[in-house]
Amino acid sequence: MTQPVVEVHLTDADLTAALRADARRGLTDSPKWLPPKWFYDARGSELFEQITALPEYYPTRTERALLDSVAGAIARTAQAEVLVELGSGSAAKTRILLNALTTEGPLKTYVPQDVSSSALRASAAEVAAEFPGLAVHGVVSDFTDTLATLPRGGRRMIAFLGGTLGNMVPAERAEFLGGIHDVLEPGEQLLLGVGLVVDPAIVVPAYDDAAGVTAEFNRNVLRVLNSRLRADFEPEAFRHIAHWDPDNEWIEMRLESTVDTTVTVADLGLTVRFARGEQMRTEISAKFRLEGLGEELRGAGFVLEHAWTDPDDRFALVLAARV
Ligand code: SAH
Ligand code: AVI
Repeated sequence: MTQPVVEVHLTDADLTAALRADARRGLTDSPKWLPPKWFYDARGSELFEQITALPEYYPTRTERALLDSVAGAIARTAQAEVLVELGSGSAAKTRILLNALTTEGPLKTYVPQDVSSSALRASAAEVAAEFPGLAVHGVVSDFTDTLATLPRGGRRMIAFLGGTLGNMVPAERAEFLGGIHDVLEPGEQLLLGVGLVVDPAIVVPAYDDAAGVTAEFNRNVLRVLNSRLRADFEPEAFRHIAHWDPDNEWIEMRLESTVDTTVTVADLGLTVRFARGEQMRTEISAKFRLEGLGEELRGAGFVLEHAWTDPDDRFALVLAARV
């Protein structure tokens, strides 16, 4: 087996600097908010993996079943030599795609990319062991600002699976898709996995499971602030909320303070007051309609070539080509 290469564009010091800026902005805003990328330290990545196996959390198993049935078709049309996967996490489902792209196409290189160095290193090593003929070139970076540094060479497909596109608000999505357009050559492809708009009775429990794993995942952002910026949040004093916003068609995860409290973020010299009942937004998870997504893709310089959905129309895999 060839050892995977792991390129680090985001050091621990870079992460701390970025968290300082985000925490200062979000915690001093009204209402307060924090960006979702801070869920994913080693514990957060592990909690996310547990979420993917929960009975209520349908997206992962639905996307996996879809990949099982359409990976061959994707591989035959894509003819990709390089697969770049943004926010690859454990890359558990990616193995299905890698299998198809290596057996039914000319794939030579896999480039997993993630902000979570622990998840990236573990998955890069596992994939390299499972696919001995494949060069694995991992990248630890932030997909919102370092796309231009991703390795080049060979016909590429960029995959962005799991519904992570939905964790961005529309303006962030436009900028992100525009950035992907700028690094691809005409005709190269983007494969998106997105959650579709479904009945709130299905989607809300997926973000508020009975075992409380999503609640722990949500509160993990407070633990990250405690360990990285010497804050003194008491995570158990915050209640997990999953709210369906019907106008924006997204789930909003929030943390609600159950007490009047003052939190100190020592490394920022910041004290932050939370009133009892005050809610802080920690994530949105937008659900899509194919028409709207097609328009967003067109606006960013892509043409939607194919969309596959599961029998219950809960999730879609969308293949788009850079114009
Ligand atoms: N693609 C996997 C994991 C989804 S979880 C799946 O489908 O199961 C979202 C992943 O995106 C996590 O691994 C997280 O660490 C990563 N992530 C979140 N924000 C990021 C950012 N700004 N830059 C890079 N990776 C990010
Ligand atoms: C990574 N992302 C697509 C997940 C989602 O469904 O929005 C993160 C998550 N949040 C709560 N549960 C899972």
